Amino acid sequence: MKLTKNFAAATMLAGVATAFSFLSAGTAQAQGALVMYCGVQEEWCRAMTTAFERETGIKVAMTRKSSGEIYAQVKAEAANPRADIWWGGTGDPHMQAAEEDLTVEYKSPKNEELQDWAVRQWEQAKHRTIGIYSGALGFGYNTELIKSKGVEPKCWADLLTPKLKDEVQMADPNSSGTAYTLLATIIQIMGEEKGFEYLKALHKNVNQYTKSGAAPAKAMALGETTVGIAFMHDIVTMVVDKAPIKVVAPCEGTGYEIGSMSIIKGAKNMDNAKKFYDWALTPAAQKLGAEAKSYQVPSNKSTPVPPEAPKLNEIKLINFDFAKYGSSEERKRLLSKWDNEVKNLPK
Ligand code: G6P
Repeated sequence: MKLTKNFAAATMLAGVATAFSFLSAGTAQAQGALVMYCGVQEEWCRAMTTAFERETGIKVAMTRKSSGEIYAQVKAEAANPRADIWWGGTGDPHMQAAEEDLTVEYKSPKNEELQDWAVRQWEQAKHRTIGIYSGALGFGYNTELIKSKGVEPKCWADLLTPKLKDEVQMADPNSSGTAYTLLATIIQIMGEEKGFEYLKALHKNVNQYTKSGAAPAKAMALGETTVGIAFMHDIVTMVVDKAPIKVVAPCEGTGYEIGSMSIIKGAKNMDNAKKFYDWALTPAAQKLGAEAKSYQVPSNKSTPVPPEAPKLNEIKLINFDFAKYGSSEERKRLLSKWDNEVKNLPK
């Protein structure tokens, strides 16, 4: 009887101890963790993760996805958010998420060190997203493969020639912010009606709509496609790696992105999300981009601009309307129009 009683007490105590250890593990995790959804190239995502962990001791769980995919995931998880910080990828889905109340307002002490375009993004999103880098859209071609085609494209219009049938690759604008930037760019240059005519004609030459925006640059380097539409800095990365590729800033002018960062509403590690946010705006963090061969223009005025970065002041840039093309209604409308009128057209 005595034994049994003691046993019962011991079991109870063990139970309590277990409960305590669970509790303390939970607390430790809450203090030392950060869940990041990362929208740039894998190498840069990993460099940011490692450096932040080293600097702060905060353990980062990072997932790399394309811009539109992260948006869809954040939206799907809104009732019970998994992520704390969404770092990188084009600004449009960050703007849409801001409008849909999926992210929170935050003012970093680092704001005053940033370029005007980065702060303007923050103001337009009512303080819920901020610019971390910028880069222009363009295309490139494989200089070996182009020889037999008898063209040397310099303009968006040149990509419609039948000589490039099945030779152009771009991403799907639903998953890729790069491709959504193309959609918005073409409409801003040509108007919506002519713009969609252009995208339909381009469809005839597209060999594949990839999930990620930088994939066409890689495919060009591997000789899998002659032409690739992508951010110019992603094509430059391939050139730096010695791929036979020419980078083109289209003659009609082109659009650009403001790569952005947002804190997820209901983040379980809110303090760490803010710590990461402030750190990600410092020159020390931003220069990790170039080290990982990502050649965007950084948003902190003191971060050195990588010499490889396409010179934005030498490229004919359009006056991109980020507020309009990042608005929830417009983004949804244009994506479904593209799905209905372009994506499944027979060739
Ligand atoms: C690459 C570029 C980034 C861009 C991102 C968009 O990583 O280097 O500047 O923001 O692509 O990715 P997505 O797959 O959404 O087009």
